Amino acid sequence: MSAVTVLPLGLVLEVAGDQTVMAAARTAGYVWPTVCDASASCGTCVSIIREGETNCGPIPDDERETLTRTLGSVDGDRRLACRLTVTGPVTLTKRGVHPIEES
Ligand code: FES
Repeated sequence: MSAVTVLPLGLVLEVAGDQTVMAAARTAGYVWPTVCDASASCGTCVSIIREGETNCGPIPDDERETLTRTLGSVDGDRRLACRLTVTGPVTLTKRGVHPIEES
């Protein structure tokens, strides 16, 4: 398990090695902004990596395609939470993440 801190909420998620950050948030009872329901096609879940970029897992092809289409480039600082896996501590920014009961 690796700790992922989500700003500005200040949420700290424990993310398993085979889990995406969005999946961990959902398991913990949080809503992560999405339009495509985690199919890596909308780009809505994009998050800014603030610390721990080297702890982020590889960028799969579908994420790379969506980042290129929606942002124009792939730089490693912006990742899709629905595809992002981690191997160590990461801090990222994603506005709109909130507890399910606030939906
Ligand atoms: S939720 Fe749509 S791209 Fe990640």
